[in-house]
Amino acid sequence: MTMTVLKEQSEVRRQTKQILKRYGRRRGNLIPILQEVQGKLGYLPQEAMLEIAEFLNMPAIDVYSVVTFYNQFRLNPPGRHSIRVCLGTACHMKGGYITLDAWKRRLGIDRGETTPDREFDLDTVACVGCCTMAPVTVVDDKPQAKVEPTKVDGILLSFEREREKRSKESQ
Ligand code: FES
Repeated sequence: MTMTVLKEQSEVRRQTKQILKRYGRRRGNLIPILQEVQGKLGYLPQEAMLEIAEFLNMPAIDVYSVVTFYNQFRLNPPGRHSIRVCLGTACHMKGGYITLDAWKRRLGIDRGETTPDREFDLDTVACVGCCTMAPVTVVDDKPQAKVEPTKVDGILLSFEREREKRSKESQ
């Protein structure tokens, strides 16, 4: 195990402990603790779950089961860009699932996953309140209108350009 990984793990434990200080050791606090730790770290690393299990005096497997049961929790770090396909009624009627399939194919990942280069993560959301723009995909917290499969390519292309620009600037 490299030094960097060890350092990251102890940082995760430190930040988790910091949050736990504000809670009582009651199992009923599990969900709010998980939400706050994820809010801070962006996801729920194994070290954080172990720390929480120890604090609440419960088996780690029980914490893990709760995390995997609720799809609000993430086991992987988020990507640089978040892609959220709306599957509310209006978007569903206008082909939200077809759009979701297009994202899955183009990114090579399933919903709830992050691309191996950590550029994108893909998930679904319920109605985001812009039904007249259906089918909607929320890209980095901004709802994009009428995202049909052909538009998926255009959005990805603009990110590709941005990535090229970033890598040129860092040379
Ligand atoms: S159903 Fe997608 S924005 Fe309302």
